Parts: sequence; structure tokens; C-alpha cells
Amino acid sequence: MNNPGDGFSRRSFLKSTCAASLACTLAPAFAAAMERGVIKKKIPSSGEQLSVIGLGTSRTFDVDPGNAARSPLVEVMQAFFDRGGQLIDSSPMYGSAESVTGELLKQVGNRQDLFTATKVWTNGKDGGIRQMQQSMQRLGVDRIDLMQIHNLRDWRTHLETLQDWKAQGMIRYIGITTSHGRYHDELETILQNEPLDFVQFSYNIANRSVEQRLLPIASERGIATLINRPYQRGSLFRQVKGKALPDWASEIDCASWGQFFLKFIAAHPAVTCVIPATSKLRHMVDNMGAGFGRLPDEKMRRRMIDYMESI
Ligand SMILES: NC(=O)c1ccc[n+]([C@@H]2O[C@H](COP(=O)([O-])OP(=O)(O)OC[C@H]3O[C@@H](n4cnc5c(N)ncnc54)[C@H](OP(=O)(O)O)[C@@H]3O)[C@@H](O)[C@H]2O)c1
Repeated sequence: MNNPGDGFSRRSFLKSTCAASLACTLAPAFAAAMERGVIKKKIPSSGEQLSVIGLGTSRTFDVDPGNAARSPLVEVMQAFFDRGGQLIDSSPMYGSAESVTGELLKQVGNRQDLFTATKVWTNGKDGGIRQMQQSMQRLGVDRIDLMQIHNLRDWRTHLETLQDWKAQGMIRYIGITTSHGRYHDELETILQNEPLDFVQFSYNIANRSVEQRLLPIASERGIATLINRPYQRGSLFRQVKGKALPDWASEIDCASWGQFFLKFIAAHPAVTCVIPATSKLRHMVDNMGAGFGRLPDEKMRRRMIDYMESI
């Protein structure tokens, strides 16, 4: 099995009461895995290390921003940071999600390693600039770590602005995203020719088309990858409803189907960070568990696919 990275100590993990009660119920092998720390992957363009499990905000954080500070989402976000989470992905396309993220960030502690990722999703240079300024305001930051062009929209125009902003230190990394197979050919050409730090697309155990071209190109070109729809918007859970996790899942420190699905993705050598979205504390705790312990090797990943195809 692959070995996890390091960087997040057991002491930090045990800081919150919630984390401590979780730790008490952990199997000895998983407790030993926690001791070794959260799994991190390297951003190729800088060498910076990033926790492999991030957080999506589409739909789940699109709630009334006025009530965000009092909502259960505060605990959800706190659990993310308490378990070594860093990257939060949002977009102006997700209704109030950016504003809600900004409100929640004011409420939580332990967020010193926050890595903000959002998107530009409009046409035209001036409109793009206005929208990105608004995103900074909504998120409550004066610099965005990763600014991505959402669904390739007007990408040539925005790429010029993003290069300017990166040179001025207003953003640290430039990315581009999609979740649609119909954009993959154009995205492939962009990855081959443009100076990008990150690319984001969909990849999960039931939808592996990016293994053919996009993941290998990202790897060759030194582009970090963010993986959206890791649960196929939740439909993977419906597929395994009532089905037992195979016994051998414990060999890769998986205690749930969620961890099985996330570890399958996180283990791909070209994957940098996986961004599941959740509005529930118990799901957040579950998802963050995938950031610890052993990851499957190629043989085990094949076994995971075969098992899914057999049920
Ligand atoms: N073009 C783009 O740039 C693009 C496109 C799509 C997505 N994205 C990004 O990727 C993120 C993730 O994709 P997604 O939100 O579409 O889908 P997803 O993460 O595959 O699935 C989210 C669903 O899974 C459920 N869930 C989460 N953890 C769970 C667990 N441990 N057990 C059971 N159910 C669980 C959530 O419900 P609960 O709330 O009940 O937990 C939610 O309904 C988005 O939020 C967004 O940030 C970007």
C-alpha cells in the first residue's frame, strides 16, 4: 500500500472534543495511521504541500447567509479544519455559497492553513475583474489562493487577467474547471498550451474517463488536479445502499463507503486534492477520515473497481 504524507500531528487532530471521541472509537491500525498524520500531495508548480481531502460548497453551502453563523454548517467547517483540511472550493455560480463560506470562516478556529479556491464565471474582462473582487469581499480575504476559470467560460480573456493578478500577488495559482465530458477535448488543448497551475474535473470510481487523457497530461505538464463530483453528486451511495463494505477495505484503513470512494481517487498519482461537498457533520467526519492511513496501490484500486462492478 502507499504510505501517507505527513504534516498534521496527532496532537492537533485530538484538539477538539469531537475529534477525541472519534479517536476513542478508532481501530488500533487507524489510530496508528493518525499518528503518521494527514495525507498531503505536492502542488507541482510550487512544491507546496496540500491536504488531499478538500471541501466543495456547491448546493450544500447555498443557504441564507444571514443565518450562516448560527447554522449547523459552523460545526461542519470546524470539523474540516480540526482534521487537517485546507482547500475550500466555491464559485459565484453557487448562489450564496461564497458569502456563507466567508461568514463561517469568521466563526471557526484552527484555520491557519486555509487555502481558498474560487472561480470566475462571466464574460468579458471588466465583468471578470468585478466578479473576482466581489468573491474576495464575500470570502473575507484580500488574496485568493487559487482562482479558476469556471467551465472554460471566456477563458482566453480571463487567463490574461489572471496572469496579471498572479504577477501582482492578488492570487497565488491559476486554474480552469469543468465537470462535463463535452469540454474535455478543448480542455486537453488548453492544458497542453497554457500556463496553468491547477485543473479541476470530475473523477470517481464509476466515471473514470479522465484516466485516458486528462490525468496523464496534467501529470506530464506539472499541473495540480482538483477532483469534483467524487461521489457522483451522491449517487454512488445509492448504488451501494444495503451492501456491505468488503472485509479487505480495512487493509487500506477504510471504515465506510465514503472513505472507499475517496481513497480510490486520492491514490491516483496525478490527483492532488479531492473536494467532496457535505452539509452534515457526520459526513464531514467520515470524509476527512479518508485523509489518513494507507492508500490503495494499483492492484488494490483494480480490486475496488471489480468489486463495484460486481454489485
Ligand atoms: N465545473 C466545476 O467547477 C464544478 C462542477 C461540479 C462540482 N464542482 C465542485 O466539486 C464539489 C463536489 O461536487 P458535488 O458537490 O457536485 O458532488 P459530490 O461531492 O460528489 O456529492 C455531494 C453529495 O454527497 C453527499 N455526501 C457527502 N459526503 C457524504 C458521506 N460521507 N456519506 C454520504 N453522503 C455524503 C452530500 O450530501 P450531504 O450534504 O447529505 O452530506 C451531497 O449530496 C462541488 O461542491 C463544487 O465545489 C465544481
